[in-house]
Amino acid sequence: MNPMALHALFAPIVGPTGVLLGKDAAPYEVDHRRLYQGHTPLVVRPRTTAQVAAVLRVCAAHGIAMVPHGGNTSYCGGATPDASGTQIVISLERLTAVRSVDPIGGTLTVEAGCTLRSVRAAAAAAGRHFPLSLGSEGSCQIGGNLSTNAGGTQVLRHGMIRELVLGLEVVLPDGQILDQLRRLRKDNTGYDVKQLFIGAEGTLGIITAAVLRMGPAPADSLTALVAIDGLEATLALLGRIQSAFGDLIETFEYMPASAVALACQHFSQIKNPFEDLHPAFVLVHLPLPSALTGLHEAFTRFMGAEIEACRVRDAVVAQSMAQADTFWFLRENIPAAQTREGASLKHDVSLPLDRLAEFERRGQMLLATLAPGCRSIGYGHAGDGNLHYNVSPPVGVLPGSEEEQAFLSRKEPLMRAIHDLVAELGGSFSAEHGIGQLKVSELVRYEDPVALAVMGRIKQALDPQGLMNPGKVVVGR
Ligand code: MLT
Ligand code: ZN
Repeated sequence: MNPMALHALFAPIVGPTGVLLGKDAAPYEVDHRRLYQGHTPLVVRPRTTAQVAAVLRVCAAHGIAMVPHGGNTSYCGGATPDASGTQIVISLERLTAVRSVDPIGGTLTVEAGCTLRSVRAAAAAAGRHFPLSLGSEGSCQIGGNLSTNAGGTQVLRHGMIRELVLGLEVVLPDGQILDQLRRLRKDNTGYDVKQLFIGAEGTLGIITAAVLRMGPAPADSLTALVAIDGLEATLALLGRIQSAFGDLIETFEYMPASAVALACQHFSQIKNPFEDLHPAFVLVHLPLPSALTGLHEAFTRFMGAEIEACRVRDAVVAQSMAQADTFWFLRENIPAAQTREGASLKHDVSLPLDRLAEFERRGQMLLATLAPGCRSIGYGHAGDGNLHYNVSPPVGVLPGSEEEQAFLSRKEPLMRAIHDLVAELGGSFSAEHGIGQLKVSELVRYEDPVALAVMGRIKQALDPQGLMNPGKVVVGR
């Protein structure tokens, strides 16, 4: 169907400002990593759940394929249309209401287009804390976070976003509204249907609103940067620090020297807070409840004993919010620093904790054989067993150069070797970034065939016409 015919179908539902054509649609046609350049005849921007439902009914009646679109921060091209020019984009950016806040029950009912930052702000305004933390919080939207089952830097204590959801509202591919916006902690009423849509990347329906769980707002917090020998020592520290401080440990992020060097190189405001060079660093963060006093002193004593025993090399406990922010800035800008450095190959892997150091060791050996001189920047959520094992070309390779092309041409064998190693060690090739269009063939290769068949049957049952985000996650099943 041509753009004007589509315009005539959808403008009466969402109004003239609710549809975008031509160059206005361009920002919705490319993913933020610029891996995929798609083409869409029309972007539809509903304002309400009822409008989303009406749009989906029209799509079902006319066999129009659609791509749900949030803040466009997917790492896997999950929100980008293909190049055929037949898939409309449905942007949730105008569904931005905070429908209700319940400080007593600790729940927040928000619409899909709210940015993560605005959700956290709404929780803070109610004297509560919404414990999902991502570097992209200013632009990513909660509907996208839910659709990809987002992780981030507080999973160790609070789990992935799935564990923060009590209720969901979803528009099904036929336009029916599934209303499960319940604010209940306990609700054992048959299959937990809403879970199907969390992590489905918009292939089964469009999430329009959610009831989220808030936690208590901490009275104080402690942020520290620890210098350490490497991943093995880091994981040993995790065990001891959890024994000492239990669930108070909310963040435990690993950064090898290669990642920190890259961040310092590309962001002049980042300084290594230690005088010496160290092989690796850990960012630790604990929110502190007011009733537990003396935790700062206990943590300082703990770290002193660790240094004394040569289990860690050094540690700096932030003395102010501003100093804590500099530690966070360092961690959160590692991906941006790697982008500024030029092309890189990303591997978002997770492993059982007792296999993580072996993965890193053997990964280095693979790299040395398959891509000599390349730099592995394997950082991330060590406490969750999740490393962003990203690989950059050798130092000095310029963006756009022939050497960079040669590096990129090794992508397939490198990824295959790394993902095969992950599978051998019992891990996952996609810990938190999802499948999108980037990892469809990896899913086929590594997922249990029975699980794949179940996914195919669910897809077929809910979206028999195959109109919801075609080409993503479950393709051709
Ligand atoms: C992160 O934890 O910083 C992100 O999930 C990203 C990445 O791979 O770069
Ligand atoms: Zn991450």
